[in-house]
Amino acid sequence: MNITDLAATRFTTKAYDASRSLTDEQITAVISLLQNSPSSLNVQGWHFHIISTQAGREKIAPAIYELNSNKVAEAPLAIVFSSMNRVTDQHLDALVAQENADGRYRDDASRQKNDAGRRGYINNYASSPEFQYSWLERQLYIALGFLLLGAPALGLHATPIEGFDTQKMDRILGLEEQGLHSVVMATVGYNSDSDFNAQLPKSRFPLTKTVTHL
Ligand SMILES: Cc1cc2nc3c(=O)[nH]c(=O)nc-3n(C[C@H](O)[C@H](O)[C@H](O)COP(=O)(O)O)c2cc1C
Repeated sequence: MNITDLAATRFTTKAYDASRSLTDEQITAVISLLQNSPSSLNVQGWHFHIISTQAGREKIAPAIYELNSNKVAEAPLAIVFSSMNRVTDQHLDALVAQENADGRYRDDASRQKNDAGRRGYINNYASSPEFQYSWLERQLYIALGFLLLGAPALGLHATPIEGFDTQKMDRILGLEEQGLHSVVMATVGYNSDSDFNAQLPKSRFPLTKTVTHL
């Protein structure tokens, strides 16, 4: 299926078939969608908790709103997307070291120039704590988008989930101590016959309302 057909036919899964598990290869493929997601300045100020065990599902269950509890209980995979509270020097040091190790720089001068440019942007444009907090969070939604389109390309169904108590989740996962906070979640698996959304037609505003050609 081509990418426009995938976009048109994917849907938010409302109920999962709990008897169908995912292979390690499938879980690895889903994680690679997250790892390869782009982020502004390649900042990657995110962390993903991958929940694929019954113990993991039970651990996060208290933070899930009733509306979504069936999805988290029945899907073979749930992911909690967490964002850094702020960009630290330590993170930027690790980032430039990773890019260097991955062969992104032809010499020290280009590495230093890129590193200085990124720090300059963050210290000027993204210096206010509020801006930085929301800028970092916005990057997570790109990863969520990759996952939502990537899952059907892998033959899987997925659900984006904001319906959970982020403060409770932060406590359960000990995120505050790590300078992180939870933002959004997703579940992945195979839908069940009771997934009413699979049968419904997609509904979107017409392009005349949402798109302007100049
Ligand atoms: C960021 C985000 C959060 C969402 N949170 C929930 C949720 O908590 N529970 C749920 O059932 N659906 C959730 N949805 C699904 C939306 O309701 C759904 O994407 C929208 O109605 C369009 O339908 P479609 O995804 O089937 O095309 C969420 C979607 C997004 C993008």
